[in-house]
Amino acid sequence: MIVRRLILWTTLVVLALVVVAACVLFARQGGFAPFRVPTGTGPPVANDATTLARGEYLVRLGDCAACHTTRGGVAFAGGHAFDTDYGTLYSSNLTPDREKGLGDWSADEFRHAMRYGVSRRGPLYPVFPYEHFARLTDADIDAIYAYLRALVPSANTPPANRLAFPANSRSALIVWRMLYYRPAAPMSATDRGQYLVEGIGHCAMCHSTRAAGDSVPSKGYLAGGILVGSGWYAPPLDADSLRRYSSSELADFLRTGTSPHGTVYGPMAEVVYSSLRALTAADAASMADYLKRIPPHAPPDMRLSARERFGGNSGDFGNNGAEIFKRACAECHGDNGEGKGGHYPALTNAVATRAPTPINAVRIVLYGAMPPTTPGNPRPYSMPPFAQQLSSAEIAAVVNYIRRNEPQASRVAASDVEAMAGIVLD
Ligand code: HEC
Ligand code: HEC
Ligand code: HEC
Repeated sequence: MIVRRLILWTTLVVLALVVVAACVLFARQGGFAPFRVPTGTGPPVANDATTLARGEYLVRLGDCAACHTTRGGVAFAGGHAFDTDYGTLYSSNLTPDREKGLGDWSADEFRHAMRYGVSRRGPLYPVFPYEHFARLTDADIDAIYAYLRALVPSANTPPANRLAFPANSRSALIVWRMLYYRPAAPMSATDRGQYLVEGIGHCAMCHSTRAAGDSVPSKGYLAGGILVGSGWYAPPLDADSLRRYSSSELADFLRTGTSPHGTVYGPMAEVVYSSLRALTAADAASMADYLKRIPPHAPPDMRLSARERFGGNSGDFGNNGAEIFKRACAECHGDNGEGKGGHYPALTNAVATRAPTPINAVRIVLYGAMPPTTPGNPRPYSMPPFAQQLSSAEIAAVVNYIRRNEPQASRVAASDVEAMAGIVLD
């Protein structure tokens, strides 16, 4: 009798605790407010020329077109595919088409989607960087809305998502939100650089260390990490990691994609090409100024999966790296990797050299790279691919050579290079 009572009471207490925990988590993701999507037409927003120009600029900085356009498709008409660990997801049509796009959305509903990541379709997948756009002021969101409304409507229907259970259900996103999503309050735009970096620029989407569920814990914010859905590594953004740039070099780097200390490649090249090159000189300067004020992060404690870590396991890491470097690389990068004439980046402190993972270095040596053409860098110098010229063992040796000051654990062998060659990185 006593035993049965004890079991009953224990069960009740455990149940009560679970309910309390669920309520707390639900409250922390914003309670019911995110799910109260505004309906109706709402008050009109201004759409004078100044507002439209402001909206257009913000849309460039938010890189909306890059994610909401397919190759060769109508701009902003959606359908761009995103491969994730749980399947393929497609972006939505942002043109003012009444059926397929945002045609009958009020400014209130638009603001709600940007702030909370919930629309009439239900909770939205966090591939849409609403966690960052939530920081924008109402006036800026309204200007974006006004600009999108002025586009030519397109009736493009993005393909249906192909996602695995349970990610295929938007209700499952409520659980994800309870565990990982904490609403960010709108910022005041007093520190323009911080406002642009944290808000519309959504730099943290790529430059953060991710934890379970692809969430960004606060100490991972801008601490550097592997991009979700690709193998590229993005470095930390803070005073320490950007020390080698002066403020004005960094401001130029953001707009032109080039500097004496490094040039952009991979996903960052796309960001500069489709977005940051539109920065005004003043905004680039405030962003650079803010980036250089971010307190240094602790050394990365990255959740590298086996496919990202590579190296250090077994095999021959090659001891002829210096010789290969002299023969194949020094002509451009200098005998000691010090760079050349402002055209060819130094390798001594480059991102690919210092990253905790060798993947950027291997990838760039295999396939080469070309910085984007920008007004500040109209004829970019490119890095040739070496996949044909060098064997996997030679690539491993030369990458280990340029990364010789990095921990032993990130050395690569020929088999690692071959494994990386097979990864589709973008
Ligand atoms: C990194 C890629 C990415 C960027 C950048 C991006 N979006 Fe999206 N956006 C998406 C994806 C993917 C979806 C679909 C999410 C879903 O289906 O849950 C989406 C959905 C949306 C929605 C919800 C539409 C609906 O029908 O529910 C709105 C509104 C939106 N985006 C606006 C914007 C604006 C405005 C910008 C630029 C300021 C922007 N997005 C930038 C990827 C992106
Ligand atoms: C789509 C992902 C992505 C986004 C968004 C992104 N970056 Fe990057 N960024 C990268 C990657 C990957 C690298 C490493 C490759 C390189 O150096 O070009 C990088 C490199 C950089 C570097 C060079 C750092 C160094 O140590 O030399 C700076 C500075 C930078 N990003 C700033 C920014 C800022 C500011 C934003 C937001 C406005 C931003 N990035 C948004 C992916 C991204
Ligand atoms: C013809 C000139 C040239 C040669 C030869 C060359 N590179 Fe490069 N390298 C470049 C240029 C230009 C870039 C910048 C590419 C970009 O940003 O898209 C670059 C970028 C790099 C980077 C990325 C640096 C960073 O910022 O993270 C690495 C690593 C690198 N090269 C290594 C090598 C190695 C190793 C070799 C020899 C096997 C080599 N390069 C040969 C021109 C060259």
